[in-house]
Formats: sequence, C-alpha cells, structure tokens
Amino acid sequence: MDGVRVERDGDVLVLVLDRQDKKNAITDAMYGALADALESAETDAAARTVLIRSEGDTFTAGNDLADFARANAQPGQGPTNVRRFLTALTGCTRPIVAAVQGKAVGVGTTMLLHCDFVLLAEDAALSTPFVNLALVPEAGSTMLLPATIGHARAFAMFATGESVDAQTALSWGLASKVVANQDLAAAALAVAAALAAKPLGALSATKHLMRNAEAVLAQMDAESREFAERLRSPEAAEAFGAFMARRKPDFSQFR
Ligand code: COA
Repeated sequence: MDGVRVERDGDVLVLVLDRQDKKNAITDAMYGALADALESAETDAAARTVLIRSEGDTFTAGNDLADFARANAQPGQGPTNVRRFLTALTGCTRPIVAAVQGKAVGVGTTMLLHCDFVLLAEDAALSTPFVNLALVPEAGSTMLLPATIGHARAFAMFATGESVDAQTALSWGLASKVVANQDLAAAALAVAAALAAKPLGALSATKHLMRNAEAVLAQMDAESREFAERLRSPEAAEAFGAFMARRKPDFSQFR
C-alpha cells in the first residue's frame, strides 16, 4: 500500500509510514492499511510485538489535510478508516513500541498515548495543533493527555499547538527513552524484540490491567461527534484553505 509498509522482523510486526514527499501525512487509505495490520496481528501468533516507525526526517505531519479539506467541502465524504485504526490501536493486545524522529504532529502525537514504549530521537518534537486547525483533539487524547502530563500542560499543548521537545516529553512521561537519531531504529527494534521474547499472555494481561479501553473508546465517541461537527465548520474551511495557500488563517471573521 502506498505510504505504509507492513514488515516482519522475527516476531515483531513493523508498521512503517513512508510517504516522505508529504512528510508522512496519513491518508484515509493509509489508516486503512494500518488498521488491517493491527486487526490481523490479533490472530497472528508470529506477531508478538508491534513496532510503529517512519522513514525520513518527520515521524508524521498528522492527518492528511487534503482529506480534511475534502471532508469539509463534501460532508458525507469524510474519512472512514481513521476510527478503525484508533479502535484497533486501543484494543491491541500486543505491546506497541513507537520510534519517533522529527515532528510528530496531531495524530502523530496522540497515537503515542496508546503505545507502551515510546522511543524519541533527540530531534523529536511532539505537537497537537488541533485547535489551530479549528478542530478538537482526537484518539482519546482529551482524556489520556491530561491523565499523563496534567491538565495545565495538556491544555497548553492543545490550545497553543506548540511543540514539546524530546527531553521535555521524556520528563513529562510522554516517552520511555530518548536516544541519538542514528541509534533510534536499532534501539527501537531491540526493545521490540526483547518484548517479543517475554511471555505474551502475562504481558498482554499487564497491558490490559494498565489501560481502560472501554473508557478510552467512550471518550473517542464523544470526540468524534464534536470533531465531525468542527470538520464541517467555516472555521475549519478557513484553516485548511490557509494551509493549502501557505498563508496565515484569519479566524476573526467568525463569531
Ligand atoms: N497533509 C497533507 N500534506 C501535508 C501535510 C499534511 N498534514 N503536511 C505536510 N504536507 C505536504 C505539504 O503540503 C508539502 O507538499 P507539496 O510539496 O506538494 O507542497 C509537503 O508535505 C512538504 O511540507 P512542507 O510544509 O513544505 O514541509 P516543512 O518541512 O516546511 O513543514 C510541517 C513540515 C509538518 C511542519 C508542515 O508541513 C505542517 O505544519 N504540516 C501540517 C501539519 C498539521 O497541521 N497536521 C494536522 C494535525 S491535526
């Protein structure tokens, strides 16, 4: 599938974002490929750990903004696979390792809240600029981010959209480890392989006890309803149009 490669390394299922010309922005079709892989992993005895990584200098620029613009212009033509991906991520019984270099924008950051071991390269920069796009945060992040880093920091991340650097993310509990950029791929694979050698039943049960999938899915439902409304709004049309035209958005016209 264009933009996503699904690979194996021993018992590690490796999901690779590879759409470098668009900074690994994730299209609806890419969400579909990621969801398919995560769903299949549940019944695949040889997929004992999942590793999510990407090629190039950017982890991901987040959701494809052309897809958002299309959904804004043609209600009913909105994304269909993103929720399937987020549900599969939330329900994944395998430990998930993430390897993040460069910018992790929007879902690039919120997906990390569902990963069990997050390695950041030194240049990683996490941001959640949903409000800047006239949207609301998703992926259960309105619950998971404040629970992880506290309301004040989470609100600042959501409201300003500013990036958090790797060391700060580590100190806030958003990551497990920071490594040099050139060591990221090997370090992430080593962690994933070590987890794959653990007793999977015990590891899955531990993960299940640590997470509350039902509550997260309920929060995602609430976010999705609001998100769908916002996606169709004139404010969002202005935000997407501004990105495409490489200009600053002007929200002052909206009351
Ligand atoms: N959706 C679709 N295309 C995207 C994209 C996205 N989220 N992010 C980047 N691209 C595209 C650009 O349009 C550009 O395409 P082009 O070469 O055909 O014009 C290409 O990727 C390179 O992006 P560019 O902005 O030139 O790279 P940069 O290094 O200057 O900046 C980012 C990188 C990620 C900071 C910047 O692209 C950005 O802010 N993207 C939007 C992020 C975002 O708001 N995501 C949604 C979060 S909810």
